[in-house]
Amino acid sequence: MAHTTSLHGIYCFKYALLLHALFLGFPVTLFFCLLLYLAVAMASHSSTFHLLLLHNSYCRCHRCLALSQSHGIWGRPSKREKRVNLNHIESRVSKRVVNEVEIFADCSCSKKEFNELLQHLKDHVNIISFNTPAHVWSAEADGDDVPWFPMKISELDQCSHRVLMYGSELDADHPGFKDEVYRQRRKYFVEVAMNYKFGQPIPRIEYTQEEVRTWGVVFRELTKLYPTHACREYLKNLPLLSKHCGYREDNIPQLEDVSLFLRERSGFTVRPVAGYLSPRDFLAGLAYRVFNCTQYVRHSTDPLYTPEPDTCHELLGHVPLLADPKFAQFSQEIGLASLGASDEDVQKLATCYFFTIEFGLCKQDGQLRAYGAGLLSSIGELRNPSP
Ligand SMILES: [Fe+2]
Repeated sequence: MAHTTSLHGIYCFKYALLLHALFLGFPVTLFFCLLLYLAVAMASHSSTFHLLLLHNSYCRCHRCLALSQSHGIWGRPSKREKRVNLNHIESRVSKRVVNEVEIFADCSCSKKEFNELLQHLKDHVNIISFNTPAHVWSAEADGDDVPWFPMKISELDQCSHRVLMYGSELDADHPGFKDEVYRQRRKYFVEVAMNYKFGQPIPRIEYTQEEVRTWGVVFRELTKLYPTHACREYLKNLPLLSKHCGYREDNIPQLEDVSLFLRERSGFTVRPVAGYLSPRDFLAGLAYRVFNCTQYVRHSTDPLYTPEPDTCHELLGHVPLLADPKFAQFSQEIGLASLGASDEDVQKLATCYFFTIEFGLCKQDGQLRAYGAGLLSSIGELRNPSP
């Protein structure tokens, strides 16, 4: 798949541009100019560049950012925007040019996207000079337009915050749609997830009595079915989760405890997510053995039904099998295959995920057993699984 081309060698090049200070909101003058210096160290589609301000002691980082954003230069990938991820931007005193300030911008993009970005800059500033060394991009980088993907685990923050639909935006047929208290509670969970960044401990949730009661019903009913319906790997890990993470009828386990447990068992971790992610963003997490978990609880009026993943689904459906090393490896491989893959291939991988990790059945000792999380977290599905 396409992603295999994007992990090849490191390529470097430098650009130098002199731009009018119009870019900074100053009067148009050659004296106030901006040197755009790009030092790109990249694996075919990520780049980093610096903007150096010459003859100007003012920091105008925000102005550069505002101009860039207003013209769609930066942004998360979409059909409409340029597919250039601005990872970081800051201003600082230049170490190369005395008494000057530079603006450093770290972005990720393909060569094609990068050239489009430059064209946008040219459209809005007056470039005085432009120098490009001969040894710039690789032949591979010249070719495929590989979709952006996280190159390191911390970049999953971008994937996990790119929520398609927030968990607080309930459909009209959702059991909690008319419950204002429930909707406010869901907003709290959205905030927790959207503020979370890689490396932080996952905030502990003080669940309400109502939420614990709802979880308790789900836990009690499902644990009655597991001995006869769940696969042996699940049955092995569930008691360990009770022992180490507080899986009990009267307690909703905390994601932080679950994450630490999984790390020990299989190298997986979990992180909170505010709502639905695209298949591409969700699968990217699996590539780094990171599972995006919701933390909210389904509405109390119908504990045995939820139209969306909730913490009961994540904790009872997914987590016990993620603690199994072979299942963890399988999950990660689906994720790895998705990195940089075409939309068409990601869709195929999502289908594979759906029929295995979500709704997989297997035969053990001649009996049909569930290993899919959608089955293992649903009383109705578990009672009547159909291959
Ligand atoms: Fe799921």
